[in-house]
Amino acid sequence: MKFFVDTADVTEIRSLIETGFVDGVTTNPSLIAKSGRPLQEVLKEICELVSGPVSAEVTATDLEGMLKEGRFLAKIAPNITIKVPLTPNGLKACRQLTKEGTSVNVTLCFSAGQALLAAKAGATYISPFIGRLDDIGETGSDLIHQIIEIYSHYPYFTTQVLAASIRSPLHVVEVARIGAHVATIPPKILHQLYQHPLTDKGLVDFLADWEKTGQSILPG
Ligand code: E4P
Repeated sequence: MKFFVDTADVTEIRSLIETGFVDGVTTNPSLIAKSGRPLQEVLKEICELVSGPVSAEVTATDLEGMLKEGRFLAKIAPNITIKVPLTPNGLKACRQLTKEGTSVNVTLCFSAGQALLAAKAGATYISPFIGRLDDIGETGSDLIHQIIEIYSHYPYFTTQVLAASIRSPLHVVEVARIGAHVATIPPKILHQLYQHPLTDKGLVDFLADWEKTGQSILPG
């Protein structure tokens, strides 16, 4: 399973790379706005830091505009993946950009039917938003389950399931249990994945007992 980081904060990305857990990055217009930096500059910097796929989202809603923006963004770096929304034009753009050899992430997926369309349009990734489904009283992880089940019936579908809108470490575990290919995780949640109070307590106890022995592992 791959871990992407869901942020456009270059400082966060830089420090997370040191953990060895960053297989890629996803951004969206809200995350770019939050960074307060020019789009091209921030994408270029992220692509230099991360060798894996970096999703950059188009903001046009018409097909021509999506294609123009997608082709422009794809030129920023070879590891750019173009993110298009799950709309009729977004799926047409997905088909065309895929034909041109560009990796495409179809975003804002909230149903299995939408995910089926994305796979048929040749998407590299489908991004079901599980947190936003939970927010409206549905169970986001059920959607991941349905998509994985559907895709498994058709081995010629090459679309990878990229679980998005992750809000807790539990979400990461849930989508991993179901078999999502990728989870895109906010930095805060990635840090939380390390944590368990019994790990902290166990370490304190072990070190206290070790101290009592007066030994050191290394000679001298
Ligand atoms: C994924 O690609 C999206 O950028 C992101 O996961 C959306 O998450 P949110 O629902 O927390 O905004």
